[in-house]
Amino acid sequence: MTESVNSLFESLWNQYTTLNPQAKSIHELFEARGEKVINDHIALRTFNTKKLGLINIASIFLDLGYEVKSEYDFRLKKLNAIHLEHSEDFNLPKVFISELRTELFSKEVQRLVYEIDEQISFGEVMSEGFIYSGRTWDLTFENYIQLLQESEYAAWTAAFGYRANHFTVSLNHLTTFFELDEINNFLLEKGFILNESGGLIKGKPEQFLEQSSTMAAPVNMEFDHSTHVIPGCFYEFAKRYPRPDTGRLYQGFIASSADKIFESTNTN
Ligand code: NI
Repeated sequence: MTESVNSLFESLWNQYTTLNPQAKSIHELFEARGEKVINDHIALRTFNTKKLGLINIASIFLDLGYEVKSEYDFRLKKLNAIHLEHSEDFNLPKVFISELRTELFSKEVQRLVYEIDEQISFGEVMSEGFIYSGRTWDLTFENYIQLLQESEYAAWTAAFGYRANHFTVSLNHLTTFFELDEINNFLLEKGFILNESGGLIKGKPEQFLEQSSTMAAPVNMEFDHSTHVIPGCFYEFAKRYPRPDTGRLYQGFIASSADKIFESTNTN
């Protein structure tokens, strides 16, 4: 039986906040102000192998009424991405899925990615719970560090597996905050650490999308034989502006801003 789209997001949210309690704290701080939090988008990360490629990860959303709307190319980070929107319910979050272009990395990184791929069957990837199954493969801390030396994204994905990398609050749906600056100042006063790469706010009103995010809080990660503290997930905030041609809020993503948002899981 197909899981309903709402219970899928609930499973993703529960998994995400268990690892990343700061998102739950911020969510509760917003609710305490009387806000009803609506998600602009969630983001998932994967590798571009035949089994784990983004189009397979997207399939559960396609089955639930989502459609692929745009494709993105992150040349510097060596990633491809797509975003999906629900065809009928515009209050459902958009889904942003990126994949590592494995072939552009060293033989060693390629080998480590293929070792992960070999430990997962195609049937598992296509099963309902796969996108919130976390890490189901073996990984040593040494291999994590090897991946980290070439790609922070590859290391994060290998360590955390399948889960929401971040949820994103839609500022447009809030009633007590009108600008990202107000959210950023509110969070800084509460002691949260924000991503400053490229400035606190990524994007401009002229690009129809402004974004900011927390830095991923460190979490205890169990590797084979050892446990280490590494950056987990982050929480993002987005303000969208209407496009003059349609009068509707812009729904896409800005590659140069997303490039900086990716750095919210950096180790330093
Ligand atoms: Ni995002």
